[in-house]
Amino acid sequence: MSFDAVEAVRVTGAGPAVGSLRVPGDKSISHRALLLASLARGTSAVTGLSLGQDVMHTRRAVERFGVVVREDGGGGLLVEGGLRHEPDGVLDHGNAGTGIRLTAGVCAGFDGLSVLTGDEFLRRRPMGRIAEPLRAMGAQIDGREHGQLAPLVIRGGNLRGIAYAPPQASAQVKSAVLLAGLSAQGPTTVTELHPTRRHTEEMLARFGARVHVDGSLVRVEPGELTATDIAVPGDPSQAAFWAVAALLTDGGSVVVEDLYTGFGRSDFVGVLRRMGAGIDFDDVTGTMTVRSSRLRAVNLTAADIPGIVDEVPALAAAAAVAEGTTVISGAGELRAKESDRIAHTCGMLRAFGVRVTETEDGMVIEGGARLRPGTVDSHGDHRIAMTAAVLAACAAEGGSLITGWDSVATSYPGFAEDLVRLTGARVEAASEE
Ligand code: S3P
Repeated sequence: MSFDAVEAVRVTGAGPAVGSLRVPGDKSISHRALLLASLARGTSAVTGLSLGQDVMHTRRAVERFGVVVREDGGGGLLVEGGLRHEPDGVLDHGNAGTGIRLTAGVCAGFDGLSVLTGDEFLRRRPMGRIAEPLRAMGAQIDGREHGQLAPLVIRGGNLRGIAYAPPQASAQVKSAVLLAGLSAQGPTTVTELHPTRRHTEEMLARFGARVHVDGSLVRVEPGELTATDIAVPGDPSQAAFWAVAALLTDGGSVVVEDLYTGFGRSDFVGVLRRMGAGIDFDDVTGTMTVRSSRLRAVNLTAADIPGIVDEVPALAAAAAVAEGTTVISGAGELRAKESDRIAHTCGMLRAFGVRVTETEDGMVIEGGARLRPGTVDSHGDHRIAMTAAVLAACAAEGGSLITGWDSVATSYPGFAEDLVRLTGARVEAASEE
């Protein structure tokens, strides 16, 4: 059976993770492939797209603009570009922060009215960070809490380029501003606090935009995009769960193939190496190879965070079994993710018997724990749920209960099946106890 729609699972481990696999298409690239193909003139073929619900919401959003998206018969999509009319209904982005924020940039550049919203978790996440620069470009944006929270109402068009330096290191904010900049008068620049993932810059160039990166500054000129074909590589953030799974237990050995190899997405590999992990990442083929290793604690600070922003729960799980005390700081942005990821990563580790102290912008994890099975509420956060499942399968002997499991399908449908195949764990649908 598929566990994708199941609200709670019981995972009974604990053995090593062994095997090789491919993970879903990169979520960040998938959102951008749909959005850029929708803005472009002509038809783009997109293969390897993430099939998670987050990306499906972006597909439905562009279809509301009259963009035609068709199956190509071989598992890929054909996107006939061109926003043809105002969205003919509310754009519901589900749980997807990237989906709503990047689409908001597109809506700001479009001469028409758009209404964007999402699920109960997304409606609690900060939207002022994109609304403010987009307003400075000339878009009219309103929303709950004086325009800070979704639903957002955007009347776009007639923008002017700005020079913007976001106060937070955020690829989503950078991308929203750059996408709006495509239809502004004059160039738009974004200067980053710390370098973040560069998918938007890389993909804008592929779609023929005039975009330049100079150190921490990105500049985009207004202009039309031209359709291009995109083969979406595997998502390194999903591979991180399997890297940690391999490391948790003696005898672990995992190979993940066909991962994205570009800037800012596989920094977790370097962090695990600093922890003593036997891990290789081939920059040419995108193959990651991991063998179980004795881990030691690591110190992670603000400059490390943008490169591992989605991998902190998984890395925290590795820190729990490492020798010594791991200190993570400068990670305040994690409180604005799918859940408050500082609080809920700490809560998850505690459920397995790990000693962890939550700080304002991070956590202190005492390693070397002997894990016991636990009960974990994912708080609607797919990455908390998947990390808990890996700990339950590989490191905590006995049965663990994970609630809010249905969040996993936002990014990784079929995760439970991969877990069973690699670890031999038993996964069962459970009722909340
Ligand atoms: C993403 C950027 C990151 C990351 C998110 C995907 C993107 O968010 O956490 O999962 O695709 O641009 P921030 O840029 O807000 O840190």
